Amino acid sequence: MNDLSRYCERVLLNKQEIADMVKRLGAQITKDYEGKKLFLICVLKGGFVFMSDLVRAIDLPVDMDFIAVSSYGSSTKTSGVVRLLKDIDKPLNDKHVLIVEDIMDSGLTLKYIKAMFENRSPLSVKVCTAFDKPERRRVDITPDYVGAVIPDEYVVGYGLDYDGILRNLPELCVLKRSVYED
Ligand code: IMP
Ligand code: MG
Repeated sequence: MNDLSRYCERVLLNKQEIADMVKRLGAQITKDYEGKKLFLICVLKGGFVFMSDLVRAIDLPVDMDFIAVSSYGSSTKTSGVVRLLKDIDKPLNDKHVLIVEDIMDSGLTLKYIKAMFENRSPLSVKVCTAFDKPERRRVDITPDYVGAVIPDEYVVGYGLDYDGILRNLPELCVLKRSVYED
């Protein structure tokens, strides 16, 4: 048992399941955007692991950039307040934008980000999320590409953190309650 696995209550998706999921999404995106100028925008920090796998599963000459947002606080619940910490530096008017996010929970973060990019008049804006917890949605937003629908539990690994740590766990795990309840 490695050291990181002690934070893990149970594995929701193992490395192979995640690899299969990324391959399927990459193939679908390749098909849907063939002949189009695709611009991928990764939401840092959580999206970076998924982004790096996803871009290598897309067989198109894509351009990409990164934004950073934060919802205040370090708890396991989102605050609903989104702050843009780092923006992209290119205009979007001739591009098809695909936002790449780690997880959709209440949907507040993506609703905010999507509206922000739509205001810059790109050819289209779609959303690709690695994981989705639809039960927790508080605003009306549906991702266009979903890696896996997961239950309403706090998960870590594959880019997702708890209080800044555990992003480097290669599996998607349910966080042990004892980590945040004591
Ligand atoms: P939303 O705005 O409620 O949809 O939350 C989106 C953001 O909250 C994600 O980008 C994550 O950073 C964080 N988040 C939501 N659920 C989880 C989780 O289960 N584990 C880790 N981070 C999460
Ligand atoms: Mg995030």
